[in-house]
Order: sequence, then C-alpha cells, then structure tokens
Amino acid sequence: MQTEPILEARDLTKHFVAGGAMSRQTVKAVQNVSIKLFPGKVTAVVGESGSGKSTVVRMLARLIEPTSGQMFFKQHNVLEDKGRRTLLSYRGQVQIIFQDPFSSLNPVHRVGYVLQRPLRIHHIANQKRQIQQRVHDLLQQVSLIPAADYAVKYPHQLSGGQRQRVAIARALAVEPKVILADEPVSMLDVSIRLGILNLMAKLRDEQRIAFLYVTHDIASARYFADELLVMYAGHAVEGGDTESLLQDPLHPYTQLLISAVPDPARGLRTAEIKIKGEIPSLTAVGDGCPFADRCPHVLPKCREAMPPATVLPGKRWVRCYLFDGK
Ligand SMILES: Nc1ncnc2c1ncn2[C@@H]1O[C@H](COP(=O)(O)OP(=O)(O)OP(=O)(O)O)[C@@H](O)[C@H]1O
Ligand SMILES: [Mg+2]
Repeated sequence: MQTEPILEARDLTKHFVAGGAMSRQTVKAVQNVSIKLFPGKVTAVVGESGSGKSTVVRMLARLIEPTSGQMFFKQHNVLEDKGRRTLLSYRGQVQIIFQDPFSSLNPVHRVGYVLQRPLRIHHIANQKRQIQQRVHDLLQQVSLIPAADYAVKYPHQLSGGQRQRVAIARALAVEPKVILADEPVSMLDVSIRLGILNLMAKLRDEQRIAFLYVTHDIASARYFADELLVMYAGHAVEGGDTESLLQDPLHPYTQLLISAVPDPARGLRTAEIKIKGEIPSLTAVGDGCPFADRCPHVLPKCREAMPPATVLPGKRWVRCYLFDGK
C-alpha cells in the first residue's frame, strides 16, 4: 500500500496583477497545478524559464497565497488556517532552499549564528550548551568538518558549495518534513553539484525528508528524482515515474524538452521533431493548451480548452488530447 503524501497541492493557481493603473494585466503564472510529495521521495519539477516552477515553490512554502486551489499538509487543509502560530509551525516543517547561496545568507552573521536562529525561533533548543551542540551536529550532517571551525566563519569566507551546505543545515535545523529546493545547484560549479545532490539524497534516505527539486537539468533530475512533473507556461502537462517518463515522454512538449538534451546512446524517438515558436506570453494565454501554437500534432479542440489529465498505467499521467480517452 502506498503511504499518504506528506504535502499535497490540488489545482494550485496563481495570477499576478502586473503593470500600472492604465496598463493592468493579469499574469497567469500557475494554473491548476496538482502535486503530491511523499516522505523519503524526490519529485522534480522541470520546465523552461518562466514556466511557473518558482511560483509553485513559493505557494507550497506559503510565502505567497495562491489565487485558488488547496493544500494539504499531513491531510490538514493548511490554507484554511491563517493563524500566525500555524503559519510558523508550517514554515518550520516545510523548508525552502534557494538557488543563490550568495544572497540567501546574511553577510554580517557567522555560520553559527545563522544556525542558532531557527533553533531559538522554533524553540528546538534553548540552553546555550544544547544550542551549540545542535549547531555542531548540523554542520557535521552537511559535512562541514571540523564543525567548530565552520561555526565561526562568515559567509564570504566560504565557497558557493559550502554556503549551500550551510543553507541546507539551516533548513535541517528545524527538523523539516519537506524541503523545497529551487534550483539548489544551478549556480554552483559543475564539479561540486554532485556532492550537494548526494547530500540531499542522504537526507531523503536517512531522514525520510520529502523533496521537491526544481531544475532545468534533466540529467540531475534523472539522477536524483523518483518522480517528474513537467511544466509549460504555468501548466503541469505531464507527470510520473522519472525513468519511465524520460524513456517514453508522451506530451509533445516533454518530447521537445527531452530531445533538447543530447543523448544519442538512448536513441530517443523525438530527435526528428521540429517545433517552431516561443513560449506564449502569460498575460495572453487563453483557455486552451498553451503549447497548441508550437505543437506538431495540434487539433482544433486544443485551442478551446486545456485537456484533462489522462491517467495511464505505471503512475503516469498526461494532459494532451492525443491520449484523452485512451
Ligand atoms: N510577483 C510577480 N508579479 C508579476 N509576475 C510575476 C511575479 N512573480 C513571478 N511572475 C511571473 O510569473 C511567471 C513564472 O515565474 P516563475 O519565477 O515561477 O518561473 P520559473 O519557472 O521559476 O522560471 P526560472 O526557471 O527562470 O526560475 C513569469 O512570467 C514571471 O515573470
Ligand atoms: Mg525559478
């Protein structure tokens, strides 16, 4: 029997209002995205720049309010409860790691202080000795050893990879159930990315943390993620088990995305597809499939309404009329 999701979003939608009073426009950043995160599993969100990945992360972290949709944490409908205490407890259990380890750490604070703060705010440790011990344990967990040396350093004395390890340790300080990692390795040197991915894989396996991993890099998603969710212009268009989705992408957009990754050994059947055009403006997307204008298989109904999700064997689903009714 499958375990329950720790965090589930249903039909999350975010519309931003942009522009001045005379030129007000609605940016449909995310539309009806559903996602389930499970303990000890990684779900990767892939998609081009501007497809809405970070907006999904910010809604799941409760940094911004969805325009509509529901979120369930341990089966509780979290958006119904807007109390300060509930929000603090939620943010403790659902942590976020950002892309840029240079701007996410305050330059005036030493590493030890960065890690003490969440311990105090969330009342995880109160006594000085207890706090110091916990800070050292956290630094050891992220392999910043000897911990005592790193605790007294300032962010500018650390490399990008070491800073990202501090950011991960800060997220771990509050013993989270979920970590939302928004392109956590994309600003790091290629040579140290694997170390950070392996650290997160260790936390997934040993602490059963549920990860959402946002990336542009299909190869790292393949390495790290159990499941994939493909986003295009604010919509989740396809999802499922990572290996089966990458071996056999169904949505024409997923095929395009994967064919952009050179991997001749795998002989993907998408190589010859030619797709023209650009991502549509999010202020102009209609009710149809946003990929219709670029899609080599477009049908008249694609421009009228977004297809429903067709659920397929092997935990796969796709939103495309080519598969509707199959
Ligand atoms: N506060 C905001 N006000 C108006 N528009 C916004 C706001 N935040 C995001 N957007 C728009 O929403 C869309 C989705 O942005 P988002 O940052 O979620 O994309 P992304 O998939 O994370 O892209 P990237 O890969 O470049 O990080 C973009 O068109 C962006 O300009
Ligand atoms: Mg982003």
